Amino acid sequence: NKDLIVLGIETSCDETAAAVIRNGTEILSNIVASQIESHKRFGGVVPELASRHHVEQITVVIEEALIKADVTFDDIDAIAVTEGPGLVGALLVGVNAAKAISFARNIPLVGVHHIAGHIYANRLMKEMAFPLLSLVVSGGHTELVLMKKHGEFEVIGETRDDAAGEAYDKVARTLNLPYPGGPHIDRLANEGTPTIDLPRAWLEEDSYDFSFSGLKSAVINTLHNAEQKGMSIDPKNMAASFQESVIDVLVTKTIKAAKEFNVKQVLLSGGVAANKGLRERLEKEFAKIDGIELLIPPLHLCTDNAAMIAAAGSILFEKGKRSEYSLNANPSLDI
Ligand code: KG4
Ligand code: ZN
Repeated sequence: NKDLIVLGIETSCDETAAAVIRNGTEILSNIVASQIESHKRFGGVVPELASRHHVEQITVVIEEALIKADVTFDDIDAIAVTEGPGLVGALLVGVNAAKAISFARNIPLVGVHHIAGHIYANRLMKEMAFPLLSLVVSGGHTELVLMKKHGEFEVIGETRDDAAGEAYDKVARTLNLPYPGGPHIDRLANEGTPTIDLPRAWLEEDSYDFSFSGLKSAVINTLHNAEQKGMSIDPKNMAASFQESVIDVLVTKTIKAAKEFNVKQVLLSGGVAANKGLRERLEKEFAKIDGIELLIPPLHLCTDNAAMIAAAGSILFEKGKRSEYSLNANPSLDI
């Protein structure tokens, strides 16, 4: 039985990434060129700038991934690439690079959904056991995804407005913290106390949906009102209060769904999975629940990377998925 070697390519937002993995789980290389420094001065990701950086970096990053893994294109069995969702001009760079290599070297091509990648980041650490539930929290997504087998995803709840990471970044901006704000709020929250009363959007009793825009507005209003009265609010306490509100809702709904669907595992995925407060609360709560295993990827596999795309791509490839050369970037691809 020959090894399965997959090259992963990810360019959906502001990281140009390539990775090589063996047999779906073993990382041979995982290269990420971050553009954060370039976008920072604009306070968020500038799509045109992102595409331009991807074009400049993509060849170097892929080459580095091959060299680091000690393989050549001859060793690659499949190329897995993020086809969506994301910024269209950014996605196009990865998709076209993948198609070019696939065509020139006659290597099968597999389009991968970005969120499938985030979920499969967990498989780089430990084998999945079905049914499982994944709490996906990133800059663009907040979803509860139920999986009954490999490669099949059922969204049982999602945000009706802002994604969790988006809320973090917006609140961070009102506190004058640099982009991306999530890690800064996380750090401040750990130094502060949740003394400020902020809302929690539970929505309808039986809903697994989320909503964070009301919370974001409440933070902005509270800061504004305090300023008008000449009072000051400690940003650490605001960060702690905001973070507690987000975590309360995420964790409560995850536990409820995990029990209702009788899952064997709960997988935390997406950039916000790097959040210290969220990781700790999930660990604390699931330690009390028998029969459900909690998986949380290490920090470098939480934020965007290509090893996770190769991991999801490996499974899809084994299940027989092949993409045509007509594969296109799809900014609003459904999982
Ligand atoms: O998954 P990701 O790298 O990109 C998307 O697919 O969106 O997620 C990026 C998001 C950003 O909103 C960032 O602020 C947030 O993840 N993030 C965090 C933390 N680290 C990254 N949010 C809260 N706490 C963190 N420690
Ligand atoms: Zn992501």
